[in-house]
Amino acid sequence: MTEPRAFSCERHGEYVAAGDRYTAAAPEDCRSCRAEAHALEAAWRAAWATWRRVVAAGIPARFARATLDSWIAATPAQRVTLGLVRRWCERAAAGEDDGLGLTLSGPPGLGKTHLGVAALWYVLQHSRQSARYAQWADTLAQLKTSAARRDNAAADVIDELKGADVLVLDEIGVRPGSEYDLGVLFDVIDHRYREELPTIVCTNATGDQACAMMGERVADRLREVNELLLLTGTSRRTGIAKPATGPLPIERPADAIDVPECYAGRFQLRRIEASPARKEFTSGSAPYERARLPLYVRGQGR
Ligand SMILES: Nc1ncnc2c1ncn2[C@@H]1O[C@H](COP(=O)(O)OP(=O)(O)OP(=O)(O)O)[C@@H](O)[C@H]1O
Ligand SMILES: [Mg+2]
Ligand SMILES: [Zn+2]
Repeated sequence: MTEPRAFSCERHGEYVAAGDRYTAAAPEDCRSCRAEAHALEAAWRAAWATWRRVVAAGIPARFARATLDSWIAATPAQRVTLGLVRRWCERAAAGEDDGLGLTLSGPPGLGKTHLGVAALWYVLQHSRQSARYAQWADTLAQLKTSAARRDNAAADVIDELKGADVLVLDEIGVRPGSEYDLGVLFDVIDHRYREELPTIVCTNATGDQACAMMGERVADRLREVNELLLLTGTSRRTGIAKPATGPLPIERPADAIDVPECYAGRFQLRRIEASPARKEFTSGSAPYERARLPLYVRGQGR
């Protein structure tokens, strides 16, 4: 230990520190700078962790800005729907959903996908849970491609859908599924049912039709654990859609940050860069995710 000495940090003023040549730490640094640097770095790492969950969610580009706030409730029925979805979001983000989900049902263009994605954004923003969007026909096509290639990607996709803390299954029951298709759907829904993981299902099918399209056993489980919301109104797909603009609900963090550092009175900014590995998407089905990573490629660059 050397004698305590007074130093001056250009940001924090005078400080007294003693050097210790036996430790790797820098005891002659300004504690305030060190605390500031730690806080900045921790926040930045957390933002990257959140962003990785955003990427893993596979939210389609068209719905990148679909939030609860951008869903317009013009009629009393729509206000009820929005209120129920909002309440579900709050409970899910708090981990209080008890595995109960929502079935958003109704004719085309009423905002079912919009609401489902909005719920994913909400959970991504307000919790650390994993969220996942899957369009069912897309998923089945991926499984078939994977089977033809004889790789393991199919198993990864199914595992992700089974394991996501919150899953939106879009466009199920569009047409009667084959025995194989229904089997895969049952596998996913039954797993989530058993593990009490909530699923938001978006479908055009209602009642008996739904049973026929998704299979009796799937429909039966959903009846038990999902609240059925029947959307009404007229399709919003009228005229030419203006692309939504503005910031995403969660933005991609900076590739690098500068943190303060003051050692023995010498102040500097130290740059911390995200390693390529950290930016990399880590989930098992990376090829699929990359193929539809609009948030990376289009919105923000990679
Ligand atoms: N209530 C709403 N407020 C604001 N935008 C809406 C609303 N409902 C739908 N939209 C917008 O209209 C378009 C169609 O909505 P969406 O795709 O969510 O409908 P859908 O019910 O999923 O239809 P489909 O059954 O055909 O899949 C989207 O761009 C969506 O953002
Ligand atoms: Mg839809
Ligand atoms: Zn300082």
